Amino acid sequence: MCGIVGYVGKDQAAPILLEGLTKLEYRGYDSAGIAVRDGKNAPVTVKEKGRIADLKDKIGPVESIVGTCGIGHTRWATHGAPSETNAHPHHSDDDAVIGVHNGIIENYEEIRDKLKRNGYRFYSQTDTECIIKLVDYYYKKYGEGPLRAISRAILRVRGSYALCLMFADYPGEIFCARNGSPMIIGKNGKDAFIASDVPAILNHTRKVYYIDNMEMARLKEGSIEFYNIDCEPLVKTLTEITWDAEAAERGGFEHFMMKEIHEQPKAVEDTIHSVTDDKDKIDLSSTGLTAEDIKAIDNILIIGCGSAYHVGMVAQYVFEDMTGIPVRVEVASEFRYRRSPIAPNTLAIIISQSGETADSLEALRKCKAAGVKTLAIVNVIGSSIAREADYVFYTLAGPEIAVATTKAYSTQLVANDLLAIEFARVRGNLTKKQAAALVKELKTLPDKIQRILDDKERIQWFASKFANANDIFFIGRGLDFATCMEGSLKMKETSYVHSEAYAAGELKHGTISLIEDGILVIGVCTQSEVIEKTISNMVEVKSRGGYLMGLTTAGNYNMEDIANFCVFIPKTDEHFTTSLAVIPLQLMGYYVSLARGVDVDKPRNLAKSVTVE
Ligand code: G6P
Repeated sequence: MCGIVGYVGKDQAAPILLEGLTKLEYRGYDSAGIAVRDGKNAPVTVKEKGRIADLKDKIGPVESIVGTCGIGHTRWATHGAPSETNAHPHHSDDDAVIGVHNGIIENYEEIRDKLKRNGYRFYSQTDTECIIKLVDYYYKKYGEGPLRAISRAILRVRGSYALCLMFADYPGEIFCARNGSPMIIGKNGKDAFIASDVPAILNHTRKVYYIDNMEMARLKEGSIEFYNIDCEPLVKTLTEITWDAEAAERGGFEHFMMKEIHEQPKAVEDTIHSVTDDKDKIDLSSTGLTAEDIKAIDNILIIGCGSAYHVGMVAQYVFEDMTGIPVRVEVASEFRYRRSPIAPNTLAIIISQSGETADSLEALRKCKAAGVKTLAIVNVIGSSIAREADYVFYTLAGPEIAVATTKAYSTQLVANDLLAIEFARVRGNLTKKQAAALVKELKTLPDKIQRILDDKERIQWFASKFANANDIFFIGRGLDFATCMEGSLKMKETSYVHSEAYAAGELKHGTISLIEDGILVIGVCTQSEVIEKTISNMVEVKSRGGYLMGLTTAGNYNMEDIANFCVFIPKTDEHFTTSLAVIPLQLMGYYVSLARGVDVDKPRNLAKSVTVE
């Protein structure tokens, strides 16, 4: 999420910053800005909503910005809508400190309140402004210099971030710090570069230092120094980058899809943390939903397209089971043209990564016209669906580049889980303690997803055996059927192998006639209430020649006697198993695609954001 570039050296900074930002645009593209200093003069700051091209237009001739020290940022909005005001760099009231920031400051509201009590005023809705002003506060209060002020601020904030700052009293110098979000320092002779991602500086140098968590750096022409959180100097070694530029943008992964699959633990964790506290209590105030709103709901209508619809299928099971509220799930393109009654006191939940899908947007408008409340679960801040809905739950997946969604889907799942738990608590279906226990379990998912990813080579080996398959079937019951729908979509859209997902009990009503020798059938079995039933269906398939992959929870080792190949996922509450079971299926789609030589990030005929009917 977001991109940072910095430069100090003998050359003019503005062209280097703009070039670097262009390379990072894939990380965030709703607004951008640069601040450049010429000697002791105050920095010149230019910010603009939109793409880097819009910022360049605003700047005009790049020579108009003079100075050899500067910082730049391209933004993917998390706190506050995309706008010029919310764009970085941000500054303290008297411009003593100016800076850019990546990541999320979790306790920014608490920090803003503290600073307000100390006379600070705020012009933006960003968490970035809070951290810049916190550094300014410590800088002035203790007068111990920039490094101490930054280290005090770092110790005070919670979250993952990378920070890059300039101080009015220190011309020609840039200070940085990080915790969680990536940041590298490049060196070329006396020139120093800062970047959140390698591609930003690859045209200038391949020699970089890596800053670790809770470390700081101080850069000026001809000098790069590193410090730990106690401001003690650190010695670092230069590393040579060997990636080509395009691979670097993918962070060392061969494809964006694989990169995004690996970003899931972080994306899921960020989304959960955005509405929960350390005591595992959920706070939905950022969505606008109140307890009264939640108590007034008689029905839930969930609408989405593609994978977002599959999230809706999962959510239906979870909401109905936890809250007892009847839930209907609709494909947006069907719903918008059907004259189906929408009961009063319905909450319509529109799920969309982009927030721009034409059918989902029209479905939202139809619900609004029917007079019911609408809640958007959306990944892109300020998108059309987010703007038009009554309430918004933002997922924090960050920019998703690969056409086939992975991390956005996973964040949408946990967003729904969190809503269902909180609805159930508010309406008395769960006690506070039960709700907190479920949140605690949700918080274990990122680690469990990581464990599955750590074992990905096994899936790769298995997938390579089926690279020439013509048909693949996915079967499961209940929540597992919803997982199958997503697994099957991943398979067909990334690898062009025909695949179908079936409710396991439906197979014998026709589709089983397609099973013949060697056809791969993937049985998803994570729901204890129906596992025996699905296993019976798998046995039926096997006796007709099907080749079985069993995807089940650790402990269900009898699967080894039935399936030809087994994948075990870690145990979790059965409401949440989709979050884990989908991971091996994403990997299957990816690896089959790879083996068949398909352009996995941009499969034919598909678009990332479908803004036409
Ligand atoms: C496209 C994408 C899918 C996505 C669907 C809905 O088809 O390829 O991955 O699930 O649109 O998009 P949305 O942005 O509304 O989630």
